[in-house]
Amino acid sequence: MNKIQIPDDLINLLINSERVVVLTGAGVSAESGIKTFRDPDGLWAKFNPAELASMNGFMKNPELVWDWYQHRREIINKSEPNPGHLAIAQMHQLFSKFALITQNVDRLHHRAGSDNVIELHGNIIENYCVDCHTYYDEQIGENDLSLPKCKKCYGKIRPAVVWFGEMLPEAALIKADELSRNSQVFFSVGTSSEVYPAANLPLLAKENGAVVIEVNPNETAISRYMDYRFRMPSGEILPVIIERIKERKGLI
Ligand code: OAD
Repeated sequence: MNKIQIPDDLINLLINSERVVVLTGAGVSAESGIKTFRDPDGLWAKFNPAELASMNGFMKNPELVWDWYQHRREIINKSEPNPGHLAIAQMHQLFSKFALITQNVDRLHHRAGSDNVIELHGNIIENYCVDCHTYYDEQIGENDLSLPKCKKCYGKIRPAVVWFGEMLPEAALIKADELSRNSQVFFSVGTSSEVYPAANLPLLAKENGAVVIEVNPNETAISRYMDYRFRMPSGEILPVIIERIKERKGLI
């Protein structure tokens, strides 16, 4: 029997809910060995986002930016989904109108078995030409030591992630907004809630009547608005929540 206590009223609510939404951030992949951004050992403590995560930075030094993303891809390719990703993947079966929204670009949710993942910040697997917007998969970079060029127009190729100062993909944002407003239960998992508009989604859910839950070992900008707070790594707490739901539904 696992010692982590989950309040009975929360489990009751979950087994009676259909519209459950999970929003994830970098923390959900931390237990897979992928660094977060704003923790003390996070990427933005060591690297400058203006240089490495903006169009200006890319135009000033495209090779440096390309190499940095290639390095991050190597780490991601070697990593595996952790129990947090796997627990979230099971939620698709447990709630009939489940939705997963992520700020992560690593595609570990897909590899854990989640489908229809709403990616707010793009993904690090694909690339596109800054001039003609032709998309390329990660193979484009495989044989290049420095920046690859577009096969159609010879433009510079960049990763398909959303950088600072750029718009989020409109369809994903509209969908995320609508799902959050209509949710009955909303989980905010592994995000510092410092980056908008994603940080607003749990608040939007709450304003519209959802019960909001935070899973994060640390306090965040929105912790005080949460109905339940689990100060634990997502890979530890989420599998326990899933186990309790399955027990109550008679699935185990
Ligand atoms: P942050 O690095 O800002 O926050 C990560 C959060 O995860 C922190 O609040 C940690 O306390 C928490 N955390 C760490 N380990 C955890 C664990 N094992 N389980 C659960 N939580 C854990 O990352 P994001 O909130 O995702 O943007 O950052 C948002 C955006 O800022 C990113 O998508 C990225 C970045 O700049 C782009 O790349 C566009």
